[in-house]
Amino acid sequence: MDTRTIAAYAILLALLLLLNSVVELQKGSATDTIFQSKTVSVGETLISAGQIFELGFFSPGNSGKQYVGIWYRQISVRRVVWVANRENPLMITSSTSGLTIGDDGNLLVVDANHTILWSTNISVSVNQSVAVLLDKGSLVLRDGVSGKSLWESFSHPCDIVLPGMMIGMDTKTGEKLLMSSWKSEDDPSPGKFVAGIATTKPPEAYVLKDSVLYWRSGLWNGLKFVGMPDLHGAYLNGFNFVPQVQNDDQYFFTFTLFNTSYVRLINLTSNGALTFVEWNEGINEWNTVNNALDSMCDVYGACGPFGICNKNKSPICSCMTGFVPNSDREWNGGNWTSGCVRRSELFCTKSNNNHSSSSGSGKIDGFLKLSAVKLPHLSIYVPLDDEAQCDRWCLNNCSCLAYAYIIGIGCTTWSGDLLDAQQFSLGGEDLFLRLANSELGHGKERAKLIISLAVISGVGFLGAIIYGLCKWKANQRGKQKKRNNHFHFSDIFNPTRAGQHGNSRSDMRHQPSELPIFDLEKIVAATKKFNTNNKLGEGGFGPVFKGEMEDGREIAVKKLSRCSGQGIEEFKNEIILISKLQHKNLVQLLGCCIDGEELMIVYEYMPNRSLDTLLFDSKRRAQLDWAKRFNIICGIAKGLVYLHYDSRLKIIHRDLKVSNILLDKDMNPKISDFGLARIFQATQEQANTHRVVGTFGYMSPEYALGGVFSEKSDVFSFGVLLLEIVSGKKNTSFQNHEKHLSLLSYAWQLWNEGRALDLMDQVLADSFSLSELMRCIHVGLLCVQDQVADRPTMPAIILMLSSETDGPQPKQPTFTFRSLLDSGLGLQSDNICSMNEDIVSTVYGR
Ligand SMILES: *[C@@H]1O[C@H](CO)[C@@H](O)[C@H](O)[C@H]1NC(C)=O
Ligand SMILES: *[C@@H]1O[C@H](CO)[C@@H](O)[C@H](O)[C@H]1NC(C)=O
Ligand SMILES: *[C@@H]1O[C@H](CO)[C@@H](O)[C@H](O)[C@H]1NC(C)=O
Ligand SMILES: *[C@@H]1O[C@H](CO)[C@@H](O)[C@H](O)[C@H]1NC(C)=O
Ligand SMILES: *[C@@H]1O[C@H](CO)[C@@H](O)[C@H](O)[C@H]1NC(C)=O
Ligand SMILES: *[C@@H]1O[C@H](CO)[C@@H](O)[C@H](O)[C@H]1NC(C)=O
Ligand SMILES: *[C@@H]1O[C@H](CO)[C@@H](O)[C@H](O)[C@H]1NC(C)=O
Ligand SMILES: *[C@@H]1O[C@H](CO)[C@@H](O)[C@H](O)[C@H]1NC(C)=O
Repeated sequence: MDTRTIAAYAILLALLLLLNSVVELQKGSATDTIFQSKTVSVGETLISAGQIFELGFFSPGNSGKQYVGIWYRQISVRRVVWVANRENPLMITSSTSGLTIGDDGNLLVVDANHTILWSTNISVSVNQSVAVLLDKGSLVLRDGVSGKSLWESFSHPCDIVLPGMMIGMDTKTGEKLLMSSWKSEDDPSPGKFVAGIATTKPPEAYVLKDSVLYWRSGLWNGLKFVGMPDLHGAYLNGFNFVPQVQNDDQYFFTFTLFNTSYVRLINLTSNGALTFVEWNEGINEWNTVNNALDSMCDVYGACGPFGICNKNKSPICSCMTGFVPNSDREWNGGNWTSGCVRRSELFCTKSNNNHSSSSGSGKIDGFLKLSAVKLPHLSIYVPLDDEAQCDRWCLNNCSCLAYAYIIGIGCTTWSGDLLDAQQFSLGGEDLFLRLANSELGHGKERAKLIISLAVISGVGFLGAIIYGLCKWKANQRGKQKKRNNHFHFSDIFNPTRAGQHGNSRSDMRHQPSELPIFDLEKIVAATKKFNTNNKLGEGGFGPVFKGEMEDGREIAVKKLSRCSGQGIEEFKNEIILISKLQHKNLVQLLGCCIDGEELMIVYEYMPNRSLDTLLFDSKRRAQLDWAKRFNIICGIAKGLVYLHYDSRLKIIHRDLKVSNILLDKDMNPKISDFGLARIFQATQEQANTHRVVGTFGYMSPEYALGGVFSEKSDVFSFGVLLLEIVSGKKNTSFQNHEKHLSLLSYAWQLWNEGRALDLMDQVLADSFSLSELMRCIHVGLLCVQDQVADRPTMPAIILMLSSETDGPQPKQPTFTFRSLLDSGLGLQSDNICSMNEDIVSTVYGR
């Protein structure tokens, strides 16, 4: 080795050492961490690894006081999201004062005299603790050796909730996470207001002012708070309650952002308003997206018991129909606190209080529907299956003063004073208010009186016009009603089978043998031992086989995969119930077959198989000309109206898709697999139907994200189906399209640009009817709206398809599965019944 090589080696070594020490140096000065013996003093800051958040001293307003806080590093208008020493600011600063780690391992704010102004105050003695500022905005104190987290700022919220933070309580451990407002804009010490989650079932958010209820959100319906109609759906903002995996003692609210480049947070302002705030990069401003304390009406109990608040009216308070002010003098003087009292005593209380005179003076009470209201406080949940049962229950219980049937929650009733009701102009829920019979219809009479007065008192010509208009409107309404009836009674109920519909639910229980039970041997023989050559397909709930009975009759047999929980007897009852549903657009159930744990359902055989085998086949699709497709669309719609509005048994399909539409020899559509969701749901408790059954591409946002389903979830699937039939394209075929995430957004863009015709399947070029096609696309887009309330009902859809009725303009549908999967929010898959694995794998697989 000559000296030159040695020199070269030496230089190399020196370089390596230097490099190493630079790296070490950078590690040592990593600005997101405080080590023991290091102090962050005034003027210095910590910065999270991804440069998102910054921690340091700030001095609000002109106070001259120094606080340790966290803020967004890259946002030019600085807003502090968390404060450490809220109550004890630093008055005089020096190089030895600041944020540091004490000898006992606690994170401290100390002043120049080493007085502790603030401490994490944990009692475990630890080795070498370190404090790290994370990119999610949390300051975490860790054991420097094991890395175990000892304390974090997310568990000590101030006035701000950041994405990923939790608010609420654990009723078992008593752990409580509350927001507390600043005293004023330049004083971060705790103010009058506190916000948290009430541990009702379902939970509700609230704000207290000096420990007295000041505002409430309305119950959580699995998707949103029902008293906040303007707050956009959970799927846009990721609002959710922490899934109650093991116990239901926990009530923790949180939110996540689909797109982490958004800056959104919840702020409890110093005047008690919970606001949802967003940083708008474009205009460099913080925007309030939603303010829970929008008007005086939002203050709890603004109008007193049985009062109702309307922010667009002056005065804002009025009594509910059938009620009069408790004290006219106070009320007219603008003091509404003592509220209103009932004008006519309820028949119910009359006959209860006075048994001697109970025999029939007066008529029985009824309900008045108040639409679009914020429901009153303190409701009682009654576990009933539908609105009709809820109505009956309330009518029969004298202490029930009102009820509402809330989608996602169910039957909710009130028995005390109705407090904190509010009239919205849009959104909200329907409240059914119990009134004495004499009070019902009161409103209508008054309206008539006003009209006739106007005519008589010779406002003359104008009056006559108003009258005429009203009359015309009423006529129109009458016509529409007639139309609806028409659909219900001749179209929807197949007339030839109408007789069978007379049976009530209870009748059926007495004659359970009506449904043929097939012998297993016969089924095995008919399907040639479930030969794979006989397999017709694989549906959501199991494989389907073709079979031929001894007498030559062709059948389809669906083998239901095993699903524990449901007893054979329950299964039979459900099947019998479902077999009673008969409609020309539903596949007819012929019977069932039970063999141990193996359950099979026997259907009529459909020679033209399922719609997807035609629609998505490049050669066979031409068989479906426009007339056939339109007939298929209308047929499916009619089948769905029947399922949704059949008076005995409301069925929500939950897995509507092209492959579940079968075609008979004349290409008439028949919906299959209806009621199966019901069978598998039957064993679930009402409260936790969080099982998501459905197929990728057809699931509505509220169902996919919140597990909330209603007839409107089927409407969503119907919309997807409709657009697929019109375009001949699968919704999911857009997965890798660079511009559009789904058929839905593609369809909306074409519609919006006035090129809707381009959506049409080219093979329809010489058979289509322009007006029918446009109506279909319009209806399809309305069905796939993000907001449940924006989607029409099935009867309204039939009206729109069959006439030139103008529907509202569709808004842009934003929800796609890709955004859902990308967001990492995920589906609540943990309690999906094992039998549905194939469906779920379609959800995740592609
Ligand atoms: C430190 O203590 C001295 C004496 O007790 C007091 O005069 C001074 O104001 C204190 N300084 C701070 C920053 O509190
Ligand atoms: C510190 O914690 C103890 C109990 O762990 C409690 O008694 C004390 O009040 C706390 N001190 C502060 C300043 O929060
Ligand atoms: C601190 O570390 C030492 C050795 O590293 C260990 O023996 C001791 O148990 C640790 N103490 C705590 C409280 O973790
Ligand atoms: C997130 O938002 C940013 C800015 O608006 C946008 O550029 C980006 O494409 C969005 N990302 C996703 C996945 O939507
Ligand atoms: C929260 O609201 C207060 C008004 O009370 C405001 O001063 C503060 O800047 C807001 N904070 C954020 C992060 O928007
Ligand atoms: C309103 O009336 C109640 C009694 O019903 C009374 O206690 C309260 O002081 C009054 N409020 C005002 C502002 O006058
Ligand atoms: C009960 O009815 C009787 C006779 O109709 C009447 O005199 C009495 O005042 C009623 N009592 C109550 C409590 O309404
Ligand atoms: C009637 O309603 C009240 C209040 O909700 C309830 O306590 C009571 O049990 C109900 N009575 C019956 C018979 O259901």
